[in-house]
Formats: sequence, structure tokens, C-alpha cells
Amino acid sequence: MNTTNDGVRLQKVLADAGVASRRACEELIAAGRVTVDGEKITWFGARVDPQQAVIHVDGKRIPTRAELRYYMLNKPTGVVSTMSDPRGRKTLAAYVGDVPERLFHVGRLDTDTEGLLLLTNDGELANRLMHPRYGVSKTYLAEIHGPIGRDLGKRLKQGVKLADGFAKADEFRVFDQVGKRILVEVTLHEGRKHIVRRLLAEVGHPVQQLARTEFGPVKLGRLRSGTIRALTTKEIGELYAAVEL
Ligand code: URA
Repeated sequence: MNTTNDGVRLQKVLADAGVASRRACEELIAAGRVTVDGEKITWFGARVDPQQAVIHVDGKRIPTRAELRYYMLNKPTGVVSTMSDPRGRKTLAAYVGDVPERLFHVGRLDTDTEGLLLLTNDGELANRLMHPRYGVSKTYLAEIHGPIGRDLGKRLKQGVKLADGFAKADEFRVFDQVGKRILVEVTLHEGRKHIVRRLLAEVGHPVQQLARTEFGPVKLGRLRSGTIRALTTKEIGELYAAVEL
């Protein structure tokens, strides 16, 4: 267990991670809501090594390694999902210029897809979020042309055959409709290339515009296009939980 004599006081580690004030963190510890490496810690004065300790509050992992960074970007269309581009197109590097750490993007969005892209230097989390084993869901809003059949959601959820195998949506709903322009929300848990576009084209509704709005437990919300923000401690904890970290 990673409580040590020369570490940092547990309440300070929690407060520095943005859980709550130091005083409130002391109360969380006293109430038995904090575990370090799986062991409940209730005594006053426990010290831990924030680089090593795996800390949970109410079962949610708390990020404690100061060098790890977690961001979301609302990627505009026209931006390639790489850090550099030999063809000189605008890349993600244009948005992470102020962040000193070298960040990796968690998966990709097509150049003409906009929306939520996670960026981090936490390699283990990034790898797990992309690994099919954890089946992290992603939600998209797609504009398609109507009219659509009543059974469209059922067909997508049953699954369709694509050139590289079977694919299906976990959730589907009509989000909005203006005349023949229909905005549908699709949730799926796989990351094959152009998967949403291919899925909807296969059922006769090629995508006109596409945006990712959710990645696992994290939602894009009202983040303006072309802006980046740090994830909250809560969001990071939820991402850890989604991939069993
Ligand atoms: N599916 C697509 O078709 N494109 C994306 O950018 C993401 C998912």
C-alpha cells in the first residue's frame, strides 16, 4: 500500500487534484470515502506518493499525477486529426499550442467531421479508450436527408453488413427535423474508419454533416467550435472508470 512517511498528505493530494478544499477532503477521508490502492484510509495524517498511489473517492479514480493532462477539443471541420500534416492542412497542433506537454489524440475524427476529440498524455488511458475490449461508446449527430422509414432505428440496431464486416448502432433517435433535413443521434461503441458515414449510407441515407457529441461518459456540451478545455476531475474519474482503471 502506497501510504508512506515521506509522501504528501492525502488531503493535500486530493485538494490539488481538484476534489474539494483541503478541509472538505479531510472530511471525505474521515467519512471513509477515500481508498488508496484499494484500502480504505480513515486516519488523519496519512501520506501518499501521488506518482504511485491509486486513489478513489466514492469509487471514482482521482487523477493525481501532476504531469498528466486531459483535454477536450471541439474540432472544427477542415482540421485533420493529426499533429502534423505533410500537405500543410490545419492540424490539431493549432489548438494545443499553449499546452507544454506532448499530447496524443484519442482516436480520430474525419477531416469533415466536427466535435469532441479527447487529448491526453496519459498513454494507458488513451490506449484503453480506443481498445475494442472496453467498448467505450461514442455518440454522433448526423444530418441526413429524409424521409426516413419508421424502421430505420431498428435496422441500424439490428446491424448491417459493411465491406469489412457487420456493424450496428447501440442507440438511435431522431433528434430534430426541418423539412427533409433530419438530424439523427447515433450511439455506437466501435471505432472503425468512417463507421457512422458507412452505416448510414448503407441504409440509404448518406451523411451530409457529422459531429461527435459524446465520448463515453464525457459530453461536448456547449464548448465552442475550435476551443479546447481541460477535463474536470470528475470527467477524468469517469473516463478511468469506463476502462476499468
Ligand atoms: N464515423 C465517421 O464516419 N466519421 C467520423 O469522423 C467518426 C465516426
